Amino acid sequence: MKFFVDTADIEAIRELAATGLLDGVTTNPSLIAKSGRDFKEVTAEICKLVDGPVSAEVVALDHATMMKEAEVLRKIADNVCIKVPLTVDGLKTCKALTGEGTMVNVTLCFSANQALLAAKAGASFISPFVGRHDDNGFDGMDLIEDIRLIYDNYSFATEILVASVRHTTHVLQAAKIGADVMTAPPKVIHDLFKHVLTEKGIEGFMKDWAGTGQSIL
Ligand code: E4P
Repeated sequence: MKFFVDTADIEAIRELAATGLLDGVTTNPSLIAKSGRDFKEVTAEICKLVDGPVSAEVVALDHATMMKEAEVLRKIADNVCIKVPLTVDGLKTCKALTGEGTMVNVTLCFSANQALLAAKAGASFISPFVGRHDDNGFDGMDLIEDIRLIYDNYSFATEILVASVRHTTHVLQAAKIGADVMTAPPKVIHDLFKHVLTEKGIEGFMKDWAGTGQSIL
């Protein structure tokens, strides 16, 4: 499963990119606002930090303006992936852009039928929001299972990008279902490294090693 980080925080991206485990980045208008940075400038910086797809979202609601915005955004770098909302205009834009060889991430997906539409529109990625789904009394992971089944039934190439990830259990469940990608805030990715027995084990080994009085270097 590919790991994307869901942030526009340059330092957080730099730190995770250094682990070699980062396959891409997703941003959205709220994350850009949170960063306090200029959208195009920060997107260009992010694109230099990772080789994989960097999602940059259009903010227009009509197809013609979405295309104009996409034109500006895709010129920033070769790894820009245009993010469009799951609307009629968004999917028209998706079809046009993927037809021209530009990666497209269709966002704000909350049903398997919507995911089916996005795949038919040639989306590179579909982003079902599991956390927001859970918040509203549904099971986000049921949605991922349904999309996996449908995409496999028809061998759609669209990658399932599990979004709105809130905790490490979401990551585990997404991997068990066979989602292609997950995007999570930096904290959730850091939490994946943690286990109380790992920490306890290191503590024990360090104590015993100190008792030997030896040094490797
Ligand atoms: C995905 O691309 C979105 O940016 C993101 O996962 C939304 O997450 P949220 O529901 O925590 O805002």
